[in-house]
Amino acid sequence: MVQNNLFSVKDKVVIVTGAARGNGRAIAEGFFHHGAIVYFVDRLKELEDDISSYGKERTRSIICDLGDEEAIKAIVTESIERDGRIDVLINNAGISLASEDPYDNDVWEQTLKINLKAAFLLSKYVSKIMIQQESGAIINITSLGAMLGFPNNPSYIASKGALKQLTKAMARDLAQYNIRVNNVCPGYILTNMTRKSYNDPVLKRERDNHIILERWGSPSDLVGPCIFLASNAANYITGIDLPVDGGWLAKGL
Ligand SMILES: NC(=O)c1ccc[n+]([C@@H]2O[C@H](COP(=O)([O-])OP(=O)(O)OC[C@H]3O[C@@H](n4cnc5c(N)ncnc54)[C@H](OP(=O)(O)O)[C@@H]3O)[C@@H](O)[C@H]2O)c1
Repeated sequence: MVQNNLFSVKDKVVIVTGAARGNGRAIAEGFFHHGAIVYFVDRLKELEDDISSYGKERTRSIICDLGDEEAIKAIVTESIERDGRIDVLINNAGISLASEDPYDNDVWEQTLKINLKAAFLLSKYVSKIMIQQESGAIINITSLGAMLGFPNNPSYIASKGALKQLTKAMARDLAQYNIRVNNVCPGYILTNMTRKSYNDPVLKRERDNHIILERWGSPSDLVGPCIFLASNAANYITGIDLPVDGGWLAKGL
C-alpha cells in the first residue's frame, strides 16, 4: 500500500525548546517551513520580535525559564488552550558551562536541571496529553557526549548520557499509547555553544580530524532528521539514537 504524505508534518502542533537561536531555532523554523504549527520556547526575550515576520497563524512564542516547573506546566496549558493538541515535542534547550569550574556543585546542579530535569518534566506533562490523543512523538536532543567521554565537562556529559537513557525508558513506557520517543545526537554544530572551539585553530583541528564529511554541521542539518522522526515515515522507530555527526562516531582512522 502506498502511504501518502509519508514525511509530512503539515498542521502538526510542535513544541521546540531553546528555539531562540542555534539548533533549536533552525529546527523550529524547519518545521514551520514544512507547514507545522510551532511553539518557539526560550528564555530570550527578543524571540517574540525575531519571529514576528512569520505571522501569528502558525507560530507562537513562549518566553520562560525551563528551570521552573510551573513555567513548564504553563507551556502545556497554553498549547492545549490555543491549539487543542500537541503532536511533537523537541527537547532541545541545553547549556554547557564548561568555561566555569567543571567540578563546581552549582555547575552540576544547573546543568542537570536544564539538560535533564526540564526535558523529563516537559516530556512528563506533554505525554499526559499525548496519552489522551493516543499519538505523539518526542525527540530529545543529546550530543556525542551521550556516547563518548569528552574532557572537562562532566555534568554536561552525564546529563546527555542520562537523557539518552531517559529516551529509551520513556519509549518503553509510552509505546502502548502510540507515542514514540527518540534521541538525536548532534556532532559539532557551529552555534554560540561551540563558537569558541571553532575559532581556536588548535581546538578546531582536533575536532575536524574526527569528522568523515570534513565539515562542521550547521543547525539546519538537524531539520531533516527531526522531521523524519516526527513524521509517519518513522512510525516503526522508537527508542533509537540517531547520530547527526558527519560520521564522527563511525570514523576509525
Ligand atoms: N552546537 C553543538 O555542536 C551541539 C552539539 C551537540 C548537542 N548540542 C545540543 O543542542 C542543543 C542546542 O544547542 P545550541 O548549540 O543551539 O546552543 P545555544 O546556541 O546556546 O542555544 C540554546 C538555546 O537554549 C536556550 N536555553 C538555555 N537554557 C534555557 C532555559 N533554562 N530556559 C529556556 N531556554 C533556555 C538558550 O538561551 P540562553 O542563550 O539564554 O542560554 C539558547 O537560546 C543543546 O541541547 C546542546 O546540548 C549542540
